[in-house]
Amino acid sequence: MKEIKGFSKLAKREKIDFLVRELLDNSCDAKDILDSFGHRDQKTQKLIDDFSENTISNFHIPFGVVPNLKVNGNVFCAPMAIEESSVVAAASKAAKYWFSRGGFHADVVGVLKVGQIHFKWLGRDISKLQRFVKEREPYLLDAVKPLIQRMEQRGGGIHSLELVDKSDDIENYYQLVLKFDTRDAMGANFINSVLEGVASELQRDAKVCDYFTKSEQELMVVMSILSNYTPECLVKVHVECPVEDLYEHSLGMCAEIFANKFVMACDIARVDPGRATTHNKGIFNGIDAVVVATGNDFRAIEACGHTYACRDGQYRSLSNAKVTRDGRFHFELEVPLALGSIGGLTALHPMAKIALELLGQPSAEQLMKIVAAVGLAQNFGAIRSLVTSGIQKGHMKMHLMNIMNQLEAQPIEQDMVQQHFDDRIVSFGAVRDYLGTLRTV
Ligand code: MEV
Repeated sequence: MKEIKGFSKLAKREKIDFLVRELLDNSCDAKDILDSFGHRDQKTQKLIDDFSENTISNFHIPFGVVPNLKVNGNVFCAPMAIEESSVVAAASKAAKYWFSRGGFHADVVGVLKVGQIHFKWLGRDISKLQRFVKEREPYLLDAVKPLIQRMEQRGGGIHSLELVDKSDDIENYYQLVLKFDTRDAMGANFINSVLEGVASELQRDAKVCDYFTKSEQELMVVMSILSNYTPECLVKVHVECPVEDLYEHSLGMCAEIFANKFVMACDIARVDPGRATTHNKGIFNGIDAVVVATGNDFRAIEACGHTYACRDGQYRSLSNAKVTRDGRFHFELEVPLALGSIGGLTALHPMAKIALELLGQPSAEQLMKIVAAVGLAQNFGAIRSLVTSGIQKGHMKMHLMNIMNQLEAQPIEQDMVQQHFDDRIVSFGAVRDYLGTLRTV
């Protein structure tokens, strides 16, 4: 294909026509699909189009809910936007299971978010730079006063400003690290604007610093940007009950063996990065789905979680389980979640608004607790399946439904297919062949 020139300047209809003509074989079907996935209300469609660029249609993913999620005694119906089958079912089953065992207990450990100004300074005597930053701190903060006034009125603002010496890693490299409390906002734009304001003032002030040499005065800001690694924006959640209360007939084993296998599965994920990655993926199945549904940035949440998972130098599980000496099963998750419940997409996307309404318009801290609880519920559901029936049994039931939908199975055929595959291995080919036999009868 040749380079496309001026694509972004085309109107939406022209973009669709161009793509259908050049890449989709002039297919009417493709054009119909692109059109049919658009929103029927033009105003809403325009809103969605404007979230991104070069938009030509919408990409739907299912929006479901997890009922009976009890967190600190309050019961929620948690919204999840996710395309993977079994995830919502697993979280719902786990939420219900823990509902009658005390529910989820969550605590926000901290809410601080981080911004970094990365700069180059050609001095050798760090104490000069330290003195400069200390003296100029009030002026640096003063330069961004108009930006932070409203945040301060809401109880947030800049929490601290610190010089970090990185010159052992890269010659002449330093950082100004600012920590923020952005209250209920995720605050990315706020943080970045403040950082850029502080960075300009830093560079200006260095130029006229009378105890800097000429080359020291040429302090060069390389970039200013928030850090998505927010270990101090942290939430802890756990479930707990006497081991014997874990028992359910469907476990297929006694409570003690189940607890034992469960704890060992978590221990394995603590020591083995291969397993830890999948274990944490399961946690993020839950976390991301609520994060997406509530209009938050799941890439930021994932990136942060994975960095946190290797904070001691090895990638490990984010959750842990144990049986205490007095015979209690304890399962916990500790995860940084820099979320917002106001501003950004949370206030714009109609589905995010509904999601937050379903949760009773939570504060950012409440949202952190709910999201962490869904993450732990998801993780519990996955490990429970893994150490009992195996993951494929439940998963394949859902997968079977997807395959039948794809093959346009009628309700009567669906019943027969479900019965047939109750004790057989599900695959697309096997279902297609079985449906074929039904249809030729
Ligand atoms: C699948 O999306 C997630 C699991 O693999 C998680 C796990 O293995 O813990 C089931």
